[in-house]
Amino acid sequence: MYRTDYCGVLDKKYIGKEVELAGWVLRRRDHGGVIFIDLRDRTGYSQVVFNPENSKDAHIIAETIRSEYVIQIKGKVIARNENINTKIPTGEIEVIAETVKILSKSETPPFPLDKAHDSHEDIRLKYRFLDLRRPEMYDNLLKRHQMGQAMRDFLNKEEFIEVETPMLNKSTPEGARDFLVPSRLHRAHFYALPQSPQIFKQILMVSGIDKYYQLVRCFRDEDLRADRQPEFTQVDIEMSFIHQDDIISYIERMLEESLKTVYGKKLSLPFPRMSYDESMNRYGTDKPDTRFELELKDISDIASKSDFKVFGSIVESGGIVKGINAKKGASFSRKDIEDDFTSFVSIYGARGLAWMKVSENGLESNIVKFFTPELQKQLIEKFQAEPGDLLLFVAATPKIVNDSLANLRVKLGERLGLIDPDKMNFLWVIDFPLFDYNEENKRWNPVHHPFTKPKDDELDLLDSDPGKSKSDSYDIVLNGVEIGGGSIRIHDSTIQKKIFSLLNIGEEEAEQKFGFLLNALQYGAPPHGGIALGFDRLMMILQKAESIRDIIAFPKTQKGTCLMSEAPSTVPDDQLKELFIRTVETAG
Ligand code: AMO
Repeated sequence: MYRTDYCGVLDKKYIGKEVELAGWVLRRRDHGGVIFIDLRDRTGYSQVVFNPENSKDAHIIAETIRSEYVIQIKGKVIARNENINTKIPTGEIEVIAETVKILSKSETPPFPLDKAHDSHEDIRLKYRFLDLRRPEMYDNLLKRHQMGQAMRDFLNKEEFIEVETPMLNKSTPEGARDFLVPSRLHRAHFYALPQSPQIFKQILMVSGIDKYYQLVRCFRDEDLRADRQPEFTQVDIEMSFIHQDDIISYIERMLEESLKTVYGKKLSLPFPRMSYDESMNRYGTDKPDTRFELELKDISDIASKSDFKVFGSIVESGGIVKGINAKKGASFSRKDIEDDFTSFVSIYGARGLAWMKVSENGLESNIVKFFTPELQKQLIEKFQAEPGDLLLFVAATPKIVNDSLANLRVKLGERLGLIDPDKMNFLWVIDFPLFDYNEENKRWNPVHHPFTKPKDDELDLLDSDPGKSKSDSYDIVLNGVEIGGGSIRIHDSTIQKKIFSLLNIGEEEAEQKFGFLLNALQYGAPPHGGIALGFDRLMMILQKAESIRDIIAFPKTQKGTCLMSEAPSTVPDDQLKELFIRTVETAG
């Protein structure tokens, strides 16, 4: 071994001991002949002192040492006389170097590791090996590992077994675009990388595995955002002979145990549950951040009785008007409201943002005059408005109103300082609709996937009013981010056929897309269901990271590239030829 101890663990107990340390040079300071080096490894750092009076040779070498050199030192731990730092474990000691060896030199790092936050993320991604040396990044990887282990421990104890499913697949119907892999042996044939192991885990239930799990990589070629990566990891679970409540309870207990083990955090169970409809009404989204209030209120009826033509005509043509009471928001300037907030909601399609300030004298703004005193009273009551509050309204189609106000709500929560970063609000959103209607293609789409079970007591709705059908499906939301979703699956082939016909998936198409699952379901399928947690997203929130990229060792950029390895890249023509692929230049 190159070391007797890690750098970050030395404390007062070590005083008087001889130690050997190995690691990277975080900082080097020359104080008039005495050189101080902060020597770092994955546990933290210790101050090493090179004094020519103790060792001339070590001091001569130390003069040549620079940041990020890899060195090994031998020395004695002593108590510090000055610059005592009680914030770090090693802040009360220092190591007097007797010998030092340079194990490896380093170029000057392209960004200072202790001030990485001031550097552009692209530089950090290109030099990811340096970025990962930072303690925050190490902690992200460590906690990710520990959470993975803790969840595995729970699932193993509960008699789940981990089964690996193929990476080279037929495409699975999860709704995103596939990443395709050309086959060399089968000309013009392609594998698809799994968007999730959905079909395989259902087949494992037909095979009697009963309780399956897998920490598994999934691939989706979709537009990337701060909480999306083209390859990400799911904690994927499937069980037989269970109901929705059983799955919910397993997941709650798994999170409770693992958060206690890894973070010492105590969660209170059960997590609250809210129907999809209620969530959309109150928050305008199916993933509400419940750490703060500012709920949306539908005022379509009050608005349509007013003389404000904009509101009236929108309600008449089938739209709605909803508003938010930004508590104590009257201090926002006109510029905040009319420039910042208004252009913010326009991102989501809102043509405008109406507002009223609440003062001791009642409501004030240029549209108040269109509301009779009685209607103004109703508005005040609806929003429980008090002097100092600010009411904000959007009128449009339900989708635009909900999207824009749901996002504005979060922005207001942040601006008004209402969000407690230490709170962890888990929420189950349940009873999702089975289908949503795609206006463009004039057809129903599955909200989750085509194997999601409709509610038993509502099967007749499939014929009479499919848009009203609800499913046995559930999402788990943490602080406004969807960290998982699942459903009970259809195990009855008559219902499955009916769903396919509603989705306009013909027999041939169903057979071609997922015939192997349909075939398996004909040979004794147990009632079953499952869920998948987005592991990266969960860790992003638990670690309070700004982006999902911070908790993945080697992530992709928003454009789907790896700046370190420079993937994706072109390949030699020979390689393409073997795969029967010819690329063509397209204009623009
Ligand atoms: P779903 O598509 O909802 O369900 O995915 C489950 C969870 O995975 C996470 N997730 C992502 N995380 C990072 N980047 C992405 N591109 C990304 N896409 C999804 C989310 C999401 O909640 N087979 C079903 C599960 C089931 O029914 O059992 C499925 O994959 O946190």
